[in-house]
Amino acid sequence: MSAEVVAKRWGKPSVFKIDRDPMFGSGLVMVEGNDWVRHRHIIAPAFNPLNIKVLASMMVESTNKMIERWVTQINSGNLEIDVEREVIAVAGEIISRTTFGMKDDNAMHVFDKLRALQMTLFKTNRYVGVPFGKYFNFKKTLEAKKLGKEIDHLLLSIIEARKNSHKENSQQDLLGLLLQENQHQKVDGKLGKTLTLREVVDECKTFFFGGHETTALAITWTLMLLAKHEDWQNQLRDEIREVVGNDKLDLSKLSGLKKMKCVMNEVLRLYPPAPNVQRQVREDIKVDNLTVPSGTNLWIDVVAMHHDTEIWGKDANEFRPERFMDDMNGGCKHKMGYLSFGFGGRMCVGRNLAFMEYNIVLTSLLSNFCFKVSEGYHHSPSVMLSLRPTYGLPLIVHTL
Ligand code: HEM
Repeated sequence: MSAEVVAKRWGKPSVFKIDRDPMFGSGLVMVEGNDWVRHRHIIAPAFNPLNIKVLASMMVESTNKMIERWVTQINSGNLEIDVEREVIAVAGEIISRTTFGMKDDNAMHVFDKLRALQMTLFKTNRYVGVPFGKYFNFKKTLEAKKLGKEIDHLLLSIIEARKNSHKENSQQDLLGLLLQENQHQKVDGKLGKTLTLREVVDECKTFFFGGHETTALAITWTLMLLAKHEDWQNQLRDEIREVVGNDKLDLSKLSGLKKMKCVMNEVLRLYPPAPNVQRQVREDIKVDNLTVPSGTNLWIDVVAMHHDTEIWGKDANEFRPERFMDDMNGGCKHKMGYLSFGFGGRMCVGRNLAFMEYNIVLTSLLSNFCFKVSEGYHHSPSVMLSLRPTYGLPLIVHTL
């Protein structure tokens, strides 16, 4: 059976769909069945490595601005930087610019509103799936709804303006790539297979919520582990010097960073930014002698799976990037044991973009700074939708 057919037998739990509607609406993360196939066929090509290459320069610019800020702070004598806060801010800027382009004044305004929506929904105790749960936090629920509407309105105006300016084929940002793929489907005579304007709005929100914190946390946890494991910090810096050199960042060389890739895999194994995956069964599914009835909600604990000594070995809890060096499965004994980017047909559509951002930001940071864990760091990973350091990540940063 193809991954696509299997993917259609599973849906996303209704409680989450209702709860996260202001964030994802009918975007790819939540949509199901034939609608999911239609969305995926249009969105996946927009994210192919050739297409997203044009987005790299925006990533470099935003990273350089952060580096300048850090140098100013360090020169003023303050060496402690809350790296989590900084990296989330830069990833937010990157996703806004890569989605809507650099010149749109509304892009940062949308970013501020999206972030406010995320805070409203996830910085308070919530009662997802508890009967009448939304009334326990009535004010927050109303606030989220209001913000959701304002964001939709802003996004609609950005997309309409893009269409009216006849630049919808522009390949300079994700919105342009998406509109271009949508246009191709129309030209092929498959009008019923295109995305509506409403759906394009939801996809833009999905890119923001699905794409920026996940990537930022991958970078944040990497810097924490590299600060703890100086040998790996040095090995990566040496690799960067050897493969990329000391001059201006040459993007074509980034794919040659083999150790960097192993480090990324290992960080995502130990600290998967998406710490669990949920499904709802859409038709009875037989697993050996067991029938999982349609409607059942399933919760896959990715963190537990990635730390399971039975499939990863006795050193499952240790940071050992070398396990991925000669084995792309990292020595895992189960083919479904590594789920950082999900599985099957619903595997993360933005992972190439995430790799690119990860490589650019880390190459730039490691070429300019060295990192040590600050005494103020308190190790306490917690699940707040994503897996993040509860008290941030203060690091002591020196310029090289
Ligand atoms: C390190 C960074 C990232 C991680 C760890 C990550 C993780 C994941 C995971 C685990 C899933 C599967 C969820 C499920 O099956 O329920 C997923 C799906 C998805 N991701 Fe990512 N992601 C990352 C970056 C991105 C980026 C940069 C984007 C886009 C800008 C993105 C957009 C999406 C979308 C649209 C889906 C839904 C795919 C579908 O259902 O067909 N992600 N991601």
